[in-house]
Order: sequence, then structure tokens, then C-alpha cells
Amino acid sequence: MKIAPSILSADFANLERDVKLVEAGGADYIHVDVMDGQFVPNITLGPNIVSALRPVTQLPLDVHLMITEPERYVENFAKAGADIIVVHQESTNHLHRVLQMIKNAGVKSGVVINPATPVSAIKEVLEMVDLVLVMTVNPGFGGQAFIPSCLAKIEELSELRQTNGYAYEIEVDGGIVPETATLCAQAGADVFVAGSYVYNSEDPNGQIALIRKAIES
Ligand code: DX5
Ligand code: ZN
Repeated sequence: MKIAPSILSADFANLERDVKLVEAGGADYIHVDVMDGQFVPNITLGPNIVSALRPVTQLPLDVHLMITEPERYVENFAKAGADIIVVHQESTNHLHRVLQMIKNAGVKSGVVINPATPVSAIKEVLEMVDLVLVMTVNPGFGGQAFIPSCLAKIEELSELRQTNGYAYEIEVDGGIVPETATLCAQAGADVFVAGSYVYNSEDPNGQIALIRKAIES
């Protein structure tokens, strides 16, 4: 079970401090939300921030690309120091090609589906990815409410993994708090992204511990 704090809710004027803080608190990945103002109605950061973060942490950088035609930028993010690059099924006409580009860049690859997208839309690429991310909110903003209908997709991905011997991790992102993390863990999730629950707190590492307790009990 892995916890991936999302820096979307960190203090952007103190990213180094906020990344080091959760690393000391037992985080497993640092989740980096890249938004282009086109695929989603918000703008965040680009490869230069990823390269600035690279030397400040030992943790894998889990880079979630919410951008149109991610094939235009995957090499930049790989060079910047991303360890995992995750692309949306809905963001490209050439999903298989983008995933190959990520592999060829020597980085772990992930595919992500929005709440309205079924697992069947990514069936053909499941054998080639290291991670499948199930959005449990509509992407674009932190602090939204968990959408329970996404749980069935986690179960489906968990069953497909077992039946076919696939190796991907199942990650969930959006509205994760201890209660929803428990539901996702029961459905088969392995990696839990949490933004506002962790960072909108006086004690981010206390919050990480509470999620850990909820998924490991
Ligand atoms: C949403 C982002 C999430 C976001 C989650 O578009 O992909 O990673 O940071 O935030 P919370 O945990 O607050 O729902
Ligand atoms: Zn994300």
C-alpha cells in the first residue's frame, strides 16, 4: 500500500519544504499534477518544476499529465526527472503510441481514466502499463467530493489483473480521506493520492498516518 501526497494542495512558494515534510512522514510517491488549461479548466506547472523538485527528494515523482496531446511533452517530463508518467485515455488519439514513448524514455508508464470513462476503453493497453489511475473526481481541482461509482472500476481492474497476470498498480486520485481510502482499498487499490486531506492541515504527517491506518487495517 502506497500513499502519494499531491503537491497541488501544497504551498507553491515552499514546495521543497512541503515535499521534504511528507517524505519524512512516510510518503511513498510525490504526486505532481500537471494541468494545461485546455484538457482541464486549470493551469498548474510544467517540466521546469519537476526538474527543480528532482534533487530535493529521493521519492519517485508520479507525474499526472492532465494535458491535451501529452505526446508533445512526455520526453520533456522524462528528461526533467519524472519516474512515472501517467496520461489520460481521453487526452490523445494515440494512447498506445504515447505509452510506448514513455517506455522508450526509460520511465514507468501509467494510464488514467476519468469518472465517465469505462475500463473497457483501456483494455488493449493494460498489459503494457505499470500503473492504472482511476480518477475518483473530475480532474482539475483539489478538494472535490469522491464519486462512489468509480469503486466498481477499481474492482474490475483488480479482477482483470488477477485473471490475466498483469503487473500494474491501481492508483486512486480525488476525494481521498480515510473513509474513502478504506473503500478503495477493499476494492483493490494499491496507491492512494491525497492532496487537500494531507496539506490543508496543521499536521500533514498525522493525516498520512490516518490514511495509512485506514488502508492497512
Ligand atoms: C485533481 C488532481 C488530484 C488532486 C486531488 O485533478 O488530479 O491529484 O490533487 O486533490 P484532493 O485529494 O484534494 O481531492
Ligand atoms: Zn492527480
